[in-house]
Amino acid sequence: MNPSETHVSTTRLRTLDELGDLAGCRVLVRVDFNVPLDAGAVADDTRIRLAIPTLGALRERGARLLLVSHLGRPQGPDPLWSLRPIADHLARLLREEVLLAPSLDEIPEGDLVMLENIRFEPGETTNDPQLAARLGALGDAYVNDAFGSAHRAHASTEGIVHHVRRSAPGLLFEREVRTLARLLEDPARPLVAVLGGAKAGDKIGVINRFLETAECVLLGGGMSYPFFAVQGKRIGNSLCDEAGLQAAREVLGRAGVQDTLRLPLDLVVADGFAADAELRVADPIDIDDGWEAIDIGPRTRELYAQIIRDAGTVFWNGPVGAFEVEPFAAGTHAIARAVADTDAVTVVGGGDSGAALTRFGLQDEVTHLSTGGGAALEFLEGRELPGVAALMGS
Ligand code: 3PG
Ligand code: MG
Repeated sequence: MNPSETHVSTTRLRTLDELGDLAGCRVLVRVDFNVPLDAGAVADDTRIRLAIPTLGALRERGARLLLVSHLGRPQGPDPLWSLRPIADHLARLLREEVLLAPSLDEIPEGDLVMLENIRFEPGETTNDPQLAARLGALGDAYVNDAFGSAHRAHASTEGIVHHVRRSAPGLLFEREVRTLARLLEDPARPLVAVLGGAKAGDKIGVINRFLETAECVLLGGGMSYPFFAVQGKRIGNSLCDEAGLQAAREVLGRAGVQDTLRLPLDLVVADGFAADAELRVADPIDIDDGWEAIDIGPRTRELYAQIIRDAGTVFWNGPVGAFEVEPFAAGTHAIARAVADTDAVTVVGGGDSGAALTRFGLQDEVTHLSTGGGAALEFLEGRELPGVAALMGS
């Protein structure tokens, strides 16, 4: 795709307002309540809380709601993946009852009903038209607020749109699409992308895209280690797989890459992946066998923070170290702090970087925290998301 070409003209995205009066209507609302659970309870409810404004807006117009979500990747009905804890959590947040419908054939009467995990239905992930039609028949209108699932062409995210008279994105979905589209189309400059996470192979599309559109791409985390290997540096026991090496070769082979790409100047290395491991700073990067990189080093923290401070727009996806282990969190904390403190427009991709922000208490200090991990990255790569395409006006 031509880098200057944009795949989504947001002016064509429908809006909730276009649904008109909803008094007495049942609206099927696809939400992405695929949230982490811990011992059967919701461990991070960001995705649930951020969908509440849409639910409120629909109910203000008199709609009765039937909420539809998936959780995990069950291969059929499985009590381990029941939405019961999610329904209970939402009920507590809203201080009202949320009825759980056990299946499509047993939907109770009520103003606020949640259907059991839609992936219990075999036709969901295959986008079966029969399931889509059954879902469509359950509502007078369809609203999709599940931006985190917009990259899936599933019956409840795409197919259903062809079986309802009225459909629109929810408020969260619309904000996600507009914010991310702005990043592609008209970002305040300089645009800085901070890309971390474990695997370069998974991020190659988004790295390439930002090398075309951003003034600066800062790499960190496990995905940066293969780059050093390709440069002929010793990386000891650091994370590195064939897909990562291939991605690094491709990126480093691009013309003009040195003008835009920044790799860590130094790395924190450990003699094992444990909180009590011995730590050293590798500067320059030359890591002995028996040692592995686990975080960016102090000089990199400072350089990256400075670039983030001077940016007009920052997009951040992926931790730059193994931040879930306390002694390895300094780099990711420094990035989160810089993203929170800069005057730039800041957009953080969901998943681990969202969890990191929340862990450091900085989740409200960014312009936009996306609820889409994979969906946000695919969108920024310039790919058309089936869930978004389905909600474009005619
Ligand atoms: C996610 O968390 O990535 C979304 O909810 C989509 O889930 P999936 O990757 O299982 O389709
Ligand atoms: Mg996913």
